[in-house]
Amino acid sequence: MSPRKIIIDTDPGQDDAIAILLALASPEEIEVLGITAVAGNVPLSLTEKNARIVCELAGKPQVRVFAGCDAPLSRPLITAEHVHGKTGLDGPVLPDPQMPLQAQHGVDFIIETIRNAPLKTITLCPLGPLTNIASALLKAPDIAERIEEIILMGGAYFEVGNITPSAEFNIYVDPEAADIVFKSGISLTVMPLDVTHKALVTKERNDAFRALGTAVGAATADMTDFFERFDKEKYGSAGAPLHDPCVTAYLIKPELFKGRYINVMIETESELTLGMTVADWWRVTKRPANATFMNDIDADGFFTLLTERLGRL
Ligand code: RIB
Ligand code: CA
Repeated sequence: MSPRKIIIDTDPGQDDAIAILLALASPEEIEVLGITAVAGNVPLSLTEKNARIVCELAGKPQVRVFAGCDAPLSRPLITAEHVHGKTGLDGPVLPDPQMPLQAQHGVDFIIETIRNAPLKTITLCPLGPLTNIASALLKAPDIAERIEEIILMGGAYFEVGNITPSAEFNIYVDPEAADIVFKSGISLTVMPLDVTHKALVTKERNDAFRALGTAVGAATADMTDFFERFDKEKYGSAGAPLHDPCVTAYLIKPELFKGRYINVMIETESELTLGMTVADWWRVTKRPANATFMNDIDADGFFTLLTERLGRL
């Protein structure tokens, strides 16, 4: 089977970084056409730089990295240095990137790539706020029917919020963008906190990264060592939740995940519940289903896959 052609839209972020590493380590299943950076965990000037740092860590300086939007559609940017550190990639000491940033705006790259590709052959993998994706849909509505699928990390239902009591960070930062994506009619697969909070980097799993004996293994272990503080403190978790790598792992081994095809809508009005993904898990409304909302993972299978693939870099 030929590899899935994808664009990764990202706000690195240690977990984004591991998702990108997993994608770049899996050329049989995934062809990364480009990486578009968005403002989120840290400002755009850092997320685009971090995306290039990760490509060079993977030994793939030929990957094209683009800068996208530096702020949400209609709100001030909210960042998450309290989780990811000042640089957004705190933990390992990694060299500044030598590879160039592409001159084209990330949103234009997304539009151009989709328009130039055969119908339904490009998958978008957003790992941060949905600003770039929504901007592309607003600028070029014709691309919606041309996109094969959007597989995104974002939202929460039973797990409720991680940035407010009711909202997950990626959706909360740009709820208007999320609303556009969830109403777009594009095939959606969603990795919410309900599933990503079951993908925890325990000490054994972190030790397995380090035991790879490679720069990638060491950097991954250092990133998750740093990144776990927030969740350990807040949830008493057994380790860092690998949110974004669930998106890449789904592309390689979808059978690792379980979920339901349901209606999911985004709260964009109420200040109290702004950014909430209102998931009709029990199908109590007549609202049409629009997303496969995941809520379970074979965590051991996930980490076995991830560690084996990281070992290839
Ligand atoms: O809420 C978790 C999500 O927000 C992850 O994508 C993390 O990288 C941050 O972007
Ligand atoms: Ca992210």
